[in-house]
Amino acid sequence: MSVPTMSKDRTARAREALARCDALANFSEDTNSLRRTFLSPPMHNCHASVAAWLKPLGVSAQVDAAGNLRGTYAGTDPNSPRLLIGSHLDTVPNAGKYDGILGVVLVIALLEELDGRRLPFAIEIVGFSEEEGVRFGVPFIGSRALVGRVDEDLLGRRDRNGISVREAIQQFGLDDQGIGEAALGDDVLGYLEFHIEQGPVLEKSARQLGVVEAIVGQTRLALRFLGRANHSGTTPMDARQDALVAAAEWMVAVESYAKQIPGLVATVGSIEAKPGATNVIPGEVRLSLDVRHRSDETRSGAIRELMGLAETIARKRGLCSQWNPMLEQDAVLLDGFLADQIEFAIRSTGCGPHRMASGAGHDAMILAERVPSAMIFLRSPGGISHDPAETVLLEDVERAIEAGIRLLDQLGLSQEFLGRKRRA
Ligand code: GLV
Ligand code: MN
Ligand code: MN
Repeated sequence: MSVPTMSKDRTARAREALARCDALANFSEDTNSLRRTFLSPPMHNCHASVAAWLKPLGVSAQVDAAGNLRGTYAGTDPNSPRLLIGSHLDTVPNAGKYDGILGVVLVIALLEELDGRRLPFAIEIVGFSEEEGVRFGVPFIGSRALVGRVDEDLLGRRDRNGISVREAIQQFGLDDQGIGEAALGDDVLGYLEFHIEQGPVLEKSARQLGVVEAIVGQTRLALRFLGRANHSGTTPMDARQDALVAAAEWMVAVESYAKQIPGLVATVGSIEAKPGATNVIPGEVRLSLDVRHRSDETRSGAIRELMGLAETIARKRGLCSQWNPMLEQDAVLLDGFLADQIEFAIRSTGCGPHRMASGAGHDAMILAERVPSAMIFLRSPGGISHDPAETVLLEDVERAIEAGIRLLDQLGLSQEFLGRKRRA
């Protein structure tokens, strides 16, 4: 197969995709950094920009009851089945500009490349409302709505200000009663997501693009150490029940344990000591724990071990420990047929793809419950993500657009793909 040189147009399109990421990064809850959590006010501006970019393509975007921005680029026939392509529009605190966002603006670039050309399937662009789990401690609220998994328990979860998911939906101007209508119908052929890798693998193997075969499972917990607050000046060192020191001992134990198990990652990402004053021994500490591994069994074993360690350390110091599960998401295998198609499309651009597992969670792992799902990774320079230093190379964005168009054309010709039915 001949390897086409990249067109000037495509370079300009890649540049525009990056400029759009820059533009969306202006819509933030924080003044000097990017934070855009689930249904926060700046999400309105973000939706308005994406909708405005879609309008000239004949795509009218609407926000569903779970806050996902969705619009359909029609296929050859009004009854054509749909391929969903998307990623998320929410961010972590002090975020980079590309995690999730790049995957959404790349769909716009692909639709622009199609330039009115119709495929035997419609393309539904989805800008998911929530993938990070920052506001409510529970990720994937947007994608759960598409698979019909937003239940009363989730709607009742509260953020730091006591606002429930249901109230957040209402405050954003959406109808929480319409959540059921956000769920996918029977006409969806699959889900495709472009995303930055967020790690060092592609860069180390000198590959621009990767084919994701699986996404590792993750458990998220909220933990508390409960001791006794007391005066820092009058309480002797051997008469303290210091919750923060117990938490510190446990955090070091978490790190040592994770280092002994190949492939296991365990992170305490947030910690809050109460009452939080220099001259008061901390009586209570709240922490988060995030544990991930390819094997669900290894991950469950790690959780048992780490909770046991928390209990032992707390007891030894005259404290108690409590924990609440926030997320239990098993590892997911993505669709083999689509992965092969992606590999073929990448190869046909003259680039050797790398097959890999994702250590980060993605909306694709939720969509995979209902429809064949696949992901294409773009190399992350320096392997940095969830940080303002997160970036992506123009040439990789250009390559992703080219591979994406080739993939869409391949799928349009594939009877195996067009004949696929949604999983029950
Ligand atoms: C999402 O970025 C996650 O993997 O936590
Ligand atoms: Mn992401
Ligand atoms: Mn992320």
